[in-house]
Amino acid sequence: MTYQVRAFDLSGVQGLSKKAIDLHLGLYKTYVEQLNKLLEQSPDRSASAAPLALDGYNRRFAFEFNGVALHELFFEQLGGKPRQPKSDSGFTDAIHDDYVDFNGWKASIEALAKTRGVGWVLTLRDRGHDRMYNCWIDLHHLHMPANCDVIFALDLWEHAYMIDFTAAQRADYVKIIFENVDWAMVEQRCKALKAPQPAHA
Ligand SMILES: [Fe+2]
Repeated sequence: MTYQVRAFDLSGVQGLSKKAIDLHLGLYKTYVEQLNKLLEQSPDRSASAAPLALDGYNRRFAFEFNGVALHELFFEQLGGKPRQPKSDSGFTDAIHDDYVDFNGWKASIEALAKTRGVGWVLTLRDRGHDRMYNCWIDLHHLHMPANCDVIFALDLWEHAYMIDFTAAQRADYVKIIFENVDWAMVEQRCKALKAPQPAHA
């Protein structure tokens, strides 16, 4: 099985140039190709396998795999249909305990988006508990909490914004992304999740 490059209609996105969007989609395609190449290599995982070769493969696998997955989550929520999330949606319900309301959640995302380095700010929902976490992820895969679903993804690699913005204008890029989020998609991700399981005593 190989991964297919998904098509995303980003023609409605305002505030990012076509050049920046096209280059970003092209980069995503490269991640899909690199992931497929890795899968084709199918390294020897037997006891006699060279540990260093396997170690390198595994580290690259998480990088390429998440590079594909996170870009798909990011592009599919960029619908260019600006509006606020519905006040009674599963998303606003889920962020209430930790962030009070949409503005509290958004302020947390904006603060995390100032983290130095390249990576992602994600809103994650713990599958086993009704808790949402906003997290900074280095690269595509480092410090990724386990057993969580991605509800919201914000790409903060320089390739995501440095065609249209300078490094010092990262906050302006974040503002543009917020203006283009398809909140129906974010709400749908919350709806699609199973009901949280009771916490273990
Ligand atoms: Fe990216």
